[in-house]
Amino acid sequence: MQSRNSGRRQIAPDVRLGQNVIIRDFVNLYGCEIGDNSRIGTFVEIQKGARIGRNCKIQSHTFICEGVTIDDGVFIGHNVTFINDRFPSAVRKDGQLQTDEDWVCIPTFIRSGASIGSSATILCGVTIGENALVGAGSIVTRDVPAGAIVAGNPARVLRAAPDPIKDKKGVII
Ligand SMILES: CC(C)(COP(=O)(O)OP(=O)(O)OC[C@H]1O[C@@H](n2cnc3c(N)ncnc32)[C@H](O)[C@@H]1OP(=O)(O)O)[C@@H](O)C(=O)NCCC(=O)NCCS
Repeated sequence: MQSRNSGRRQIAPDVRLGQNVIIRDFVNLYGCEIGDNSRIGTFVEIQKGARIGRNCKIQSHTFICEGVTIDDGVFIGHNVTFINDRFPSAVRKDGQLQTDEDWVCIPTFIRSGASIGSSATILCGVTIGENALVGAGSIVTRDVPAGAIVAGNPARVLRAAPDPIKDKKGVII
């Protein structure tokens, strides 16, 4: 069992960790939830309110912000950036620093089995479907259909999901 905190790792007391979660050094976690068996690489930051499912791999240097929900079995490559504020600003119209009340957190969903390539940026308000794959360096601005492979800026479908396999009764298996 890893100790939650070392001199090289910050896991706030409000973080909810499942069983057998592995967290590498230089990670910063606060107010988030991480499911059983998931692995968090070096230099990852996960903010309050973010949820990571079971059996996920989050590779080094990735930033997961408030508003992001990652289901089970998801792969997040290195240096992936999530976004939760479509029109960010340091200050309000009156010139004072913004507070939590001055902006809207827009949620993003990554469905089970999806994989996100290294250095991708995921704009807010999108859903990446089950078992979809996002190419390295892509900028995802729209929903990604389940099973699709997308790439580029903006990310476009390279290959759609293969047709589902059905049994004799037409039921997807
Ligand atoms: C998206 C991806 C799965 C496509 O792989 P593929 O099916 O073998 O595709 P190909 O290499 O045959 O490329 C098909 C076309 O898409 C383009 N392409 C491939 N990956 C791309 C990417 N990430 N961004 C933009 N375009 C991409 C290719 O240039 C090619 O274009 P062309 O037909 O005009 O020459 C793969 O390139 C990728 O980015 N994988 C993610 C890898 C990763 O980040 N791993 C993380 C841990 S190491």
